[in-house]
Amino acid sequence: MNNTTLETLISEAEVQRRVSEIGEEIRKDIPEGQIVLLGVLKGSFPFLADLCRKVSGDVVVDFVQISSYGEEKSSSGVVQIKKDHDINIEGKHVIIVEDIVDTGLTLKHLIQLLTTRHPASLKVASILAKPEAMKHKVPIDYLGFEIPNAFVVGYGLDYAERYRQLPYVAILKEEDS
Ligand code: PRP
Repeated sequence: MNNTTLETLISEAEVQRRVSEIGEEIRKDIPEGQIVLLGVLKGSFPFLADLCRKVSGDVVVDFVQISSYGEEKSSSGVVQIKKDHDINIEGKHVIIVEDIVDTGLTLKHLIQLLTTRHPASLKVASILAKPEAMKHKVPIDYLGFEIPNAFVVGYGLDYAERYRQLPYVAILKEEDS
């Protein structure tokens, strides 16, 4: 039987400090007008919940959900929208909110799609990124932390749907017992 252990990589205090900084930075860059925070389900929900309370002024929240089939199974159309946003983003300042950028595939396709909907500006905030895993070069305008190419959970990230609720980011280690 396998035992799993969690090794803290980024503490709750570090996460919260960085989220506050990102929130302030976003409002500094977009000083006027409404900001649409567009969370990518499911993993973005803790970051989005914390971030939306750190961006001052007029803020609205919406969600998209994406299915990714991985590049090995299809060479095109590898991501599919499972749930589209409800708010009309034309002429709006939109920030895509992600928990993690891994290969960059999800973000690449999402940026392409949302660009066709003519937002006033389109930026990306992600609490985590794995530079070693990135295959598609995508811009991350607001990045929380660069992490090594390990299996991480917490702060929205799951293992078989577990651990999303942890307020910190941890490396999940499996050990034989
Ligand atoms: C994760 C994460 C990103 C995507 C990043 O979502 O939330 O959306 O993968 O990977 P990529 O850069 O290689 O495309 P996942 O598909 O695990 O769904 P979840 O958020 O519902 O767990």
